[in-house]
Amino acid sequence: MKRIAVLTSGGDAPGMNAAIRSVVRVGIAEGLEVYGVEQGYAGLIAGRFVPMTVRSVGGIIGLGGTVLGSARCPEFRTEEGRRKAIEQMQAHGIDGLVVIGGGGSQTGSLLLHRMGFPVAGVASTIDNDLYGFDLTLGVDTALNTALESLDRIRSTASSHHRAFLVEVMGRDCGYLALMTALAGGAEVVVVPEVDVDPDAVARELREAYERGKSHAIVVVAEGARYNAAAMAEHFRERRDEVGFELRMTVLGHVQRGGTPTAFDRLLGTRAGAMAVKLLVEGRHGHIAGWLEGKVQALPLEEVVGKKRPLEPDLLSLAEVLAQ
Ligand code: F6P
Repeated sequence: MKRIAVLTSGGDAPGMNAAIRSVVRVGIAEGLEVYGVEQGYAGLIAGRFVPMTVRSVGGIIGLGGTVLGSARCPEFRTEEGRRKAIEQMQAHGIDGLVVIGGGGSQTGSLLLHRMGFPVAGVASTIDNDLYGFDLTLGVDTALNTALESLDRIRSTASSHHRAFLVEVMGRDCGYLALMTALAGGAEVVVVPEVDVDPDAVARELREAYERGKSHAIVVVAEGARYNAAAMAEHFRERRDEVGFELRMTVLGHVQRGGTPTAFDRLLGTRAGAMAVKLLVEGRHGHIAGWLEGKVQALPLEEVVGKKRPLEPDLLSLAEVLAQ
């Protein structure tokens, strides 16, 4: 292997720049030429390759987002799109690819691998929905951002004796919601994995009100059947049942931006380095991520297309603690 490329794909995640930096510098230290691909798979299909040097990744380790840009690319889901991407890489003499991204992006890398192109992944998404890993790149920062927002909301909620619906990201996975609720002391948590009856949520809020609580926080994952807007709409005519006056805050993309935590910088650095080694050592079709206290590689075949289960014990713990 002489020349590799690196791209970031799907929703960006804090720590992606640390991973890019690591891929570039470790790759160069291994004697490889390294190219960056702009705008994810869309840039791969269009041949948007940029030569990277040790200097071109200077000063980026602490930056949120991704200096290479990212995109969601429907064309790459087609075989023709993937063939074009491989042709572009072959035309540029690129013989290995590192894909930094989450579930959808790693489905793309698995398909490239199956077409015979050498790939390695870095498990990266704030949703933490990749099967097989304990933590993906960006989760720690997103969780801390959500938590800081929750703490701010709690103080105003308490001053006004209000209940707040706080919506966090998580399309299919309630990890961020559950961890935010646990670490932030929320009264109720609503996740996509469990179908929650909004009237049961209203009852829990009412009980908290009657117990004399000065506020109540409901953390809702955006992918739940009743997201914050749907829940607020359901409660609109039922204020007396809830007790508290109700407000809603959608944290949205605030959680995806910002300076990566130490953990995410280190994870990006270590997983990026491992992805290069996987390519160099010929362990193609693997993905690096955080598992059992260290960075480990798993075969993409074992990771892609499976659902990461939510820990039911932690859901019960959140309920017990919300007294
Ligand atoms: O990257 C994951 C994620 O942040 C999900 O939590 C969310 O549903 C989605 O991306 C939003 O995507 P976009 O930024 O493309 O609207």
